[in-house]
Formats: sequence, C-alpha cells, structure tokens
Amino acid sequence: MTAPTEAAGPPPIHGEAFSADPHAVYDRLRAQGPIVPVEISPGVYGYLAVSYRAAVHLLRNTPARFAKDPAHWAALRNGEVPQDSPARMMMQPRDNALWKDGPEHARLRRAITNSLARVDTHALVESVARIADRLIDTFAGDGRADLIAQYADPLPMLTVIDMFGCPAGIGERIVHSVSRLFEAGADAAQANADLESACLELTYLKRIRPVRDVTSHLIVEGLSEAEMVQTILLIIGAAAPPTSSHIGYGLRRVLTDPSFAGSVHDGVRPVSDALEEILWDNPPIPNYCPLYALGEQQFEGVHLAPGYPILVSFAAANGDPALKVPPGARAGNRGHLGFSAGVHACPAPDLARVIAETALERALDRLPGLDLAVPDGDLRNKPGTFLAGLTSLPVIF
Ligand code: HEM
Repeated sequence: MTAPTEAAGPPPIHGEAFSADPHAVYDRLRAQGPIVPVEISPGVYGYLAVSYRAAVHLLRNTPARFAKDPAHWAALRNGEVPQDSPARMMMQPRDNALWKDGPEHARLRRAITNSLARVDTHALVESVARIADRLIDTFAGDGRADLIAQYADPLPMLTVIDMFGCPAGIGERIVHSVSRLFEAGADAAQANADLESACLELTYLKRIRPVRDVTSHLIVEGLSEAEMVQTILLIIGAAAPPTSSHIGYGLRRVLTDPSFAGSVHDGVRPVSDALEEILWDNPPIPNYCPLYALGEQQFEGVHLAPGYPILVSFAAANGDPALKVPPGARAGNRGHLGFSAGVHACPAPDLARVIAETALERALDRLPGLDLAVPDGDLRNKPGTFLAGLTSLPVIF
C-alpha cells in the first residue's frame, strides 16, 4: 500500500463532486480495501477507514495501538499543512478531551460525562420545546420557511447555551462569535478570542453563583479555568453542528419517505425511527476521529505508516454491504457508528436524541400541512468532509 502523498494522487474526500454523492465515493474506495489513502482537503493527505471492521478495529484499539493526539501528525509538525486548511481547523491539537489520550483524556472526559449525566431530560424537553416555539413564532405566519436557516441551525446552539445556564448577554456573544468562527473569515482569530472570553466570563459567574446547570457541574469536577474554557468550547462545538444536521435530515426524511410521510403526523411510526435510520444513512459526522498509528501496523493486508492521520468514515462503515443490515431493519437498530465507538464515542447520544426528537415533533405539531416547497432532488448537501448537512430545506405549510 502506497503512503498517502501527492505523487500517488489519492482520491479527494472534499469538494463538490464528493458532497454531491459521498456514498458513491465510499463504494469506490471500499472496493480498493478496508483502509485507503485519500486527500482529506486540498494538500492534506491521510487514510480513510471505509469498512465497518476497519472502523471498529481503529476505534476499539485506541489508545493502545492508535493515538488521538495530533502531536503524532508529521505534516503538521513539519509545517506542511496550509494555515487556512479546513482539515487544520478540524484536526489540530486543542487542550480538551477530544484530542487527548490515556489518563488525561479519561480525566477530562469524566468531568464531561459526570456533568452531562446530571442534565434532567424532562427539563431538556421543555427547554427545546420553548426554543422551538420561539423560532417557529418568527415564521409561523408566513406559510413558508427555510427549516435549516430558521430552525435546525439555531435550535441546538440555543439549547446548549440554555444547558450551560448562560445569561442572555453571554449567550448572544457565544452565538455571534461561533457563527463568525464558522464563516472562517478574516476575523476568525478575533472571533475565537471573543468566544474564549465569553466562556471565561461564564465560568467566573458560575463560580460565584453556582446553580444546577452544566457549567456549575463542570466547576465541581475540579477543572482549571483554562480547562473550563476549552471544555465549554468542545461541548458547544461537538453538540450544536451535528444536532442541527440531524434535525435537518430528520425533517427531510419524514417529509419525503413514503414510509414516514403522513404516518409520523398520525403517530403510527415514531419520529425516533426516522432519526435512527438517518444515523445509519446520513450520520451528521460522516468522517472524523483522526487517529495515528503507534508504530508500523498491518490491518487485513493494509500497511499503516505512523505520522499520517487515519480518519474513520462513520458513513462508509455504516453503508458497508458486509454488515448485511437491510434498510428496513435499521429503525431501532443502534449498531451504527453515528455516535462513534470506543473511548472517544459521543458521551451524549441520549441528549442528542431528546433534542432532535423534540425539535421534529414540535415542527410537525406547529406547522400543519408541512411539505417541501421544492422537489426532493433539488436539495443539496453542504460541501465538507467532516460535517454533513443540507444547505437549505424550503417548506410550505
Ligand atoms: C446527533 C447529534 C450528535 C452526533 C451525531 C454526535 C456524534 C459524535 C461523534 C461521531 C463523536 C466522536 C468524534 C471523534 O472522536 O472525533 C462525538 C464526540 C463527542 N460528542 Fe457528540 N454527537 C452529537 C451530539 C452531541 C451532544 C448533544 C453533545 C453534548 C451535549 C455531544 C458531545 C460530544 C463530546 C464532548 C465529544 C468528545 C468525546 C471524547 O472525545 O471523549 N455530542 N460525537
């Protein structure tokens, strides 16, 4: 197996052709082997695990044989990764649980899981419903809306800010700076600084006046000021964008799939079925969890060289024909890798499910006669390697 370099010309997993039909690309790659060299973003090379067995092998053997810490990324160390590369933004080291291995990861992750475990799901349902209603009120009288821009995108961010117990001013600063960061414009560094200062202010506030919210629980877990800021940022970044994507694809599924259309409104098939199927077919995070081989390794005849990122394709693994899960048997089947697996698996799948289900139910309840305003075939995926999602979801009601 060749190392994934420019000369070898590995296939791209970015750009318009890829986003138009990622599963066609995954099928072609899987025909070449379980783990294949790819171009992750322009000028950034690595491997992609495309079979279910390979994905599980990597995730289950982290951190014993594979590291998450990007200190192992040779191209980054050598200054070969373009400064403005989307891969750099998503894969560079940060001081939080996502990028740590071993005891350091365990300590930071424990603080997160302990804090999230205290979230009262009944209160969460009420919070999501309240936020959903507020958003729907802004367009309910129009008879039409874009449910991505006006609903699926803002709802999870506002929900997470509520979970953190952010007062309005700090919450608005966080929302504003996160959207500037995602635009990746010239003021990204300033947006990052603004975001960090809002998180720090929130920490100070909760230290003085703790209440029953995620920020106060994280403080009880004994995180330092710097760890608090990075952990709040991690949770916001890990929670909001994938949940937005999930709600968007979920709404599309119930509006277009004949096995759901009508029946979800009637309560015959639960919304949760539609959402679980999407975690198989359109996982919000299709490719991520960059790992680094600790020493030369082999997997099913593939040689894995240290120093290169190996991304796990959750989307390709879920679609692996070797799994033999027929599309009809996917609802209620949680064998997918939509929330990853192993030590870095998503610590909040139940919270994600509660947010997405409540958001779908609220939209269907509040918008009678909800239907797509354009043919399903006109809907487009956002371009991108790491985060899936629809560009828009125009509806009438
Ligand atoms: C449908 C929505 C969601 C999906 C599909 C999803 C999926 C994932 C995936 C695939 C990972 C592994 C990433 C990697 O290892 O590189 C992950 C990690 C993580 N997720 Fe989620 N997630 C969702 C919602 C949430 C929510 C609501 C929260 C918190 C409230 C959350 C918090 C986290 C955190 C903190 C991590 C890092 C865990 C670690 O590294 O130990 N996620 N998520």
